[in-house]
Amino acid sequence: MRTHYCGAVNADHIGQNVTLCGWASRRRDHGGVIFIDLRDREGTVQVVIDPDTPEAFAVAEDTRSEFVLKVTGRVRARPAGTENANLPTGMIEVLTLALEVLNPSLTPPFQIDEDNINENIRLQYRYLDLRREPMQKNLRLRYRVSKLMRDYLDGNGFMEVETPMLTRSTPEGARDYLVPSRVHDGMFYALPQSPQLFKQLLMVAGIDRYFQITKCFRDEDLRADRQPEFTQVDLETSFMGEEEIMTLVEAMIRDMFQKAQGVDLPNPFPRMRYADAMSRYGSDKPDMRVTLEIHDVTDAMKEVGFKVFSGPANDAKGRVAALRIPGGATLTRGEIDGYTEFVKIYGARGLAYIKVNDVTQLNETGLQSPIVKNLSEAALRTVMERTGATNGDLIFFGADRARVVNDALGALRLKIGHEKGYVDGRAWAPLWVVDFPMFEFNEDENRWDALHHPFTAPKDGHEEYLTSDPGAALSKAYDMVLNGWEVGGGSVRIHKEAVQEKVFAALNIGEEERREKFGFLLDALKYGAPPHGGLAFGLDRLVTLMTGSESIRDVIAFPKTQRASCLMTSAPNAVDEKQLRELHIRLRSKAVEPG
Ligand code: AMO
Ligand code: AMP
Repeated sequence: MRTHYCGAVNADHIGQNVTLCGWASRRRDHGGVIFIDLRDREGTVQVVIDPDTPEAFAVAEDTRSEFVLKVTGRVRARPAGTENANLPTGMIEVLTLALEVLNPSLTPPFQIDEDNINENIRLQYRYLDLRREPMQKNLRLRYRVSKLMRDYLDGNGFMEVETPMLTRSTPEGARDYLVPSRVHDGMFYALPQSPQLFKQLLMVAGIDRYFQITKCFRDEDLRADRQPEFTQVDLETSFMGEEEIMTLVEAMIRDMFQKAQGVDLPNPFPRMRYADAMSRYGSDKPDMRVTLEIHDVTDAMKEVGFKVFSGPANDAKGRVAALRIPGGATLTRGEIDGYTEFVKIYGARGLAYIKVNDVTQLNETGLQSPIVKNLSEAALRTVMERTGATNGDLIFFGADRARVVNDALGALRLKIGHEKGYVDGRAWAPLWVVDFPMFEFNEDENRWDALHHPFTAPKDGHEEYLTSDPGAALSKAYDMVLNGWEVGGGSVRIHKEAVQEKVFAALNIGEEERREKFGFLLDALKYGAPPHGGLAFGLDRLVTLMTGSESIRDVIAFPKTQRASCLMTSAPNAVDEKQLRELHIRLRSKAVEPG
């Protein structure tokens, strides 16, 4: 139907006749002449309709926003002074010879070139939202990123194998999406939280190098970086240790950033132990662009008179830590109150602070704070030395269970760092976090949980801790972190049945449950399972970071809301009684449509 894309017409075409198809973006009447910005995937071009072509002019007069048009015309230079250097097509315009409406449009609920559109309206009319240039760019980058990773893996001997969507649950730590079986009364499939077990079985099968760009499904609380269905670039290899795997996937990410965005990421990526990340940044995915650091002062607070500090300092699960803000003495009372409110989100009960006026006077003269009188000089000295405080600084304190302190000060570090500019100016700060513990204690249920997943191998020499001291066992897991986001995670796996059994035992998964849930894996490990390991990247997160978007919803064509519903199709929805009956399901109460 057309000769060129709208956005591709340029000065080279001056004097030529072109036929373009696209959407009417804006129409302007300029006393006898009508201008229409015609838009397609590649961009926008200015079309001029002159009364000398009365038929076309009549059509143009009736054209409204988002009408689909077919324009035949002659490309000409724009009159001097009317060029637009910001547009690739800004030097030219198309003088219309014939104009046809291929399809009219209702008045759209928003202007396609508007910026601040309510997200719910965007999601309801996603097909219009996706016409917007930023969304077109995002989808294009997403395609490019997945293509580059696919090419890289293909070039390195990986082959893509599809794994089932209707399967049984793999424990990745979230709730499953279940699918009722019609054939088997009362039975359910689970949608995969990841292809984890299948990719391990593919290694047992001798595939050697597997990858898959695939959907994963997790019913968890949604945030800006989480969707109920999301895409992994999932891979697994045989006969490679963690060093080799990390080197390989790191090279893939470097290659992809270079080709997609011309960005050179550091080689190699820095590495940090999990324990250091938690201690210094309060997070297992530290944003290394932020220069602020957390310092542990638990040991110094054991004997102080201030109960808020000495309590947690004498509790095995407690922590007292300090966050130094260089020059922070200028923070206003209002700002500090704001931060105190902010840390409450993370369970903190307060946010003690000291303003450092004169670091040589470790008393109420040199240090301004209601808590100073209750802290010993020795404790204050430790704080000043560890934080490296100088005059004019402000030091915040967290004292609570270690988890609360880490969450609160970790989040405060990011907030103050980004809002007040305590950043090092790097655009990209990749990091490997390594030496994760095998297990994490679940206080609510009083048992150990796998920190990654139960198929992760213990570090060499740590196997005996699985039974003697599970909390001390470290694993061969690694996470790739980029600008404070966990973009990928993986591990070397257990390939020996006896070790896998020990891990299940540590997780308090009884013999019967092991057989019931993981019998097929334990059996496979008996038939010559090779040493293997791998990793999965969160494609949505990677692309979100690369586009600079706030939410992964902006890089997914048809995402769900925070409440896991689709505003366009109105999923999830009630189904009719007949369908339910076939699936052997009776509702306990009337279905409630998502609001
Ligand atoms: P993990 O659970 O760490 O590992 O997932 C891998 C990566 O997937 C991304 N991700 C998500 N992205 C969007 N929404 C979500 N709800 C979501 N959950 C996870 C993250 C994460 O780093 N089978 C293992 C991988 C392995 O061990 O090889 C796994 O799934 O970027
Ligand atoms: P209070 O003794 O309650 O008057 O608190 C004195 C200071 O300690 C105030 O600045 C509180 O915000 C702060 N504070 C209270 N509880 C904590 C805590 N768990 N961690 C850090 N600071 C706290």
